[in-house]
Amino acid sequence: MAYLELCKLTKRYQKDITAVDQLDLQINKGEFLVLLGPSGCGKTTIMRMIAGLEEVTDGDILLEGKSIKELSPKDRGVSMIFQSYAVWPHMTVYDNVAYALKLRKMSKADIKERVMKAAKLSSIVEYLERYPSQLSGGQRQRVAVARAMAIEPILFLMDEPLSNLDAKLRVAMRTDLKEVHQKLGSTTIFVTHDQSEALSLADRIVVMNMGVMEQIGTPNDIYHDCETMFVANFIGSPPTNFIDVNITKETDGLYATNEMFKFKVSESLHQGIVNYVDKKVVLGVRPENFCIKEHDERKEHNEGSFKLTIDNLEPQGSHTVIISHLLGKQIKLVSSEHFNLNIKDEIDISIGDKYFFFDKDTERRIR
Ligand SMILES: Nc1ncnc2c1ncn2[C@@H]1O[C@H](COP(=O)(O)OP(=O)(O)OP(=O)(O)O)[C@@H](O)[C@H]1O
Ligand SMILES: [Mg+2]
Repeated sequence: MAYLELCKLTKRYQKDITAVDQLDLQINKGEFLVLLGPSGCGKTTIMRMIAGLEEVTDGDILLEGKSIKELSPKDRGVSMIFQSYAVWPHMTVYDNVAYALKLRKMSKADIKERVMKAAKLSSIVEYLERYPSQLSGGQRQRVAVARAMAIEPILFLMDEPLSNLDAKLRVAMRTDLKEVHQKLGSTTIFVTHDQSEALSLADRIVVMNMGVMEQIGTPNDIYHDCETMFVANFIGSPPTNFIDVNITKETDGLYATNEMFKFKVSESLHQGIVNYVDKKVVLGVRPENFCIKEHDERKEHNEGSFKLTIDNLEPQGSHTVIISHLLGKQIKLVSSEHFNLNIKDEIDISIGDKYFFFDKDTERRIR
């Protein structure tokens, strides 16, 4: 049995705003689940419904098989860290962390034990006597984490808890959060619209789009095995390139063709793509999956290779992003080889063995 289960969970704000649309989701005990999606796709709304801060329009929320939909927030055992975390400025760090425990009328000794444990886990022990104004943004953020942790929630909800931090601190904090999760083993739902945060933290990622789940899977599934064009575009930086091709049938197999190139479709893809003979489909190629041949005029062009002109170069240290155009559309390639490239050079490209086909109408992967 799943630990937390969302069953056809729906939220309509007004008649015409469906923020979350019939979401089915099962979360395992101890899992670190990340909700990922663009602004306005319903992430915060899902979290607020689980926490009991937002009424559910339709559907149900089950915790260990029992509906919690009618329970008040404090009876759910859920702890939420908000997008705009607020630590109380007039209280010391200690009192901030202890606050919810005092409300629960725990004994002083028990409170101290809980506060110290949470403070240790979030590395704020030396700041317990300070006020939030005497802390850096990252330290304040850790106070918010400690405060949520002290309640020892059965479910941890974190809504973009790192969004106020600078890039370097964000990366450091996410490592800390992962460690805390490993130590506590608490079931966690973490919201972000930052894909690298999602990929690095999650056991599983849920990609949301306009209130609907596009795909759920491990970080590797989501990146290497995209179900839809939305996911292929949203995950990966630079995103997947989409190129229109025709599928044709020849005596020796199926080909993907357009005005620039023609290549033989791998047999492993025949089953789905055979239904698209003489039709247009969308070829998706990740920037790192093109084969870039060294800039060498003496080489024979293999079947399926074509020339691209380099419009721009973005060196990133470990790799270089090559910006070019193909059939009137910009495309981006990534090369980690450091051969000498210059703007306006022509390079020989072929489609490697990693690519996807998508249906033009449904935008779903053809398998
Ligand atoms: N109280 C409200 N009344 C009406 N519409 C709302 C309300 N709260 C949110 N919405 C709408 O519901 C949709 C989902 O909002 P939500 O805050 O869940 O998005 P989000 O994924 O958390 O976005 P972000 O990444 O910007 O935080 C949006 O279209 C938003 O405008
Ligand atoms: Mg939000």
